[in-house]
Amino acid sequence: MTLPGDGQVAHAAPAELAAEPARLAAPANDTLQSANALRPSDYTAALVRRMQLSPSWVRGARVLDVGCGSGLLLAAAGELGAASLTGVDVEPDAVAASRALLRGAGHGTHSDIVQGDMFAPVGERRFDLIVANLPHFPMAEVGAEEGRHLTWSAGGHNGRVLLDRFLAGLAAHLSAGGRALVAHNAFVDVEATRAAVRGAGLSVRVTDTVLVPVSPVKLELMPPELLARETGKTIFRYGPHALAEVLVVAISFEASDASDDPSAKG
Ligand SMILES: C[S@@+](CC[C@H](N)C(=O)[O-])C[C@H]1O[C@@H](n2cnc3c(N)ncnc32)[C@H](O)[C@@H]1O
Repeated sequence: MTLPGDGQVAHAAPAELAAEPARLAAPANDTLQSANALRPSDYTAALVRRMQLSPSWVRGARVLDVGCGSGLLLAAAGELGAASLTGVDVEPDAVAASRALLRGAGHGTHSDIVQGDMFAPVGERRFDLIVANLPHFPMAEVGAEEGRHLTWSAGGHNGRVLLDRFLAGLAAHLSAGGRALVAHNAFVDVEATRAAVRGAGLSVRVTDTVLVPVSPVKLELMPPELLARETGKTIFRYGPHALAEVLVVAISFEASDASDDPSAKG
């Protein structure tokens, strides 16, 4: 006979499960579904890495995360010594998850998570660091991986619908010496991003390049002409598998943002 503590998991007998189906099954399932919908991704990880490598950008900063999801980017910024943590998300689930995460990490008193669209909830406030990992997959129709919220990935026909709205509002919310760190699929055209912010006096620098897996569901939803154009350049396919190039871009009012943090590669 196997006992709990023998290194084995003790399973309830089917009769015991049947006796308390609601307590045993429903809450765990809901929690799992919600956690999956808000699961941080390789894009999240790339942004966290950049903050860890450039701590002077985070320490003492007023930080805003547009589309905060799980709240992990804000938690990482809090750990690196951010002065305040503000998160915005359209999903009520994300707002609840971020609040809980930050409270649990001891950042409850200097964080503020609000539900709303893009910069609307923060009015005219400015921030020293704005992080964003917005949905920017080119998908003709709104779709998302199973179990994820629909608002998580889809960025319209060219992937830039939310990204361009974010860039349009950025200059009005960045402090003079501040910067944005944005997760940016290479195949949605970083030159278009440069062009979008140039008029506002902002410049764009690629700080990091990573390859991330792309799920078959996403590949299926992406416009065939984009896949044809980018395969071999920013999207690499190996049978049923695919990897895509993702950039972390730093956007600031500085002509060159490289000098103030030697660990940031340019
Ligand atoms: C790819 S997830 C990123 C979540 C988190 N920042 C991270 O890196 O793990 C994108 C998030 O943007 C949110 N979002 C989508 N459209 C938005 C909008 N118009 N305004 C604010 N947030 C939005 C989604 O609900 C989702 O939580």
